[in-house]
Amino acid sequence: MKYTEEIFKKYGRIYDEGKVIFREGEPGNEMFIIIEGKVKITKSAGNLEKTLMILGNGDFFGEMALVDDKPRSASAIALTTCKLIALDKNTFKNVILNNPSFAYKVILKMSERLREADKQIEELLKYDKRTRIIKSIAEAFEQKEYSKLSDLVKDVSDLVGVSESEVLSVIRELVNSSVIGLKAGKITINKEELKRIYKFLSFSKPHYEAD
Ligand code: CMP
Repeated sequence: MKYTEEIFKKYGRIYDEGKVIFREGEPGNEMFIIIEGKVKITKSAGNLEKTLMILGNGDFFGEMALVDDKPRSASAIALTTCKLIALDKNTFKNVILNNPSFAYKVILKMSERLREADKQIEELLKYDKRTRIIKSIAEAFEQKEYSKLSDLVKDVSDLVGVSESEVLSVIRELVNSSVIGLKAGKITINKEELKRIYKFLSFSKPHYEAD
């Protein structure tokens, strides 16, 4: 299905930054294709929330509830203002049946997501919480610069699915050992040293304890 202004007029939706598109557990009658913007897919466990994936232009989400008629498996939140195409169940089914290249794209994406989920399971089994937090801090700094500690703590806690206080206590250790520097308006990080610590922890500490 090629995106055109006409299609947007018929199926288009705009969500402002921060808006919840749908929540985990709700019944789902539509799937969405992102024309513009970023959407965060999150799953909650107790009072913790874990970011499963951040989706961008051309990605889709919300197809699972349409395929298996079960409640939404995760929540979707607009990270930026989003321009989306919303397809109801019948339209989705028709597009799949009549457009093999769209159907193939859906299968491809679903298998990429399963592969990523398998990778996350592997990391959960292999590494303890502290190691996962350290790895996620290194990855967060690969994505952007941080000036506020609270932003870094929030991002890492969402990505790892642990509480903010657990992230803070690891950051404190890293500040005490000068791997992270906290100066007014800027957080600095010794990436090489952080990678070295992460590698050391991953190889030296097989973990069997429950987190
Ligand atoms: P649905 O279950 O309808 O609603 C939540 C959506 O989040 C789901 O469809 C998928 O589109 C998407 N989703 C669920 N799990 C993952 C995951 N592990 N990675 C990326 N997207 C996911």
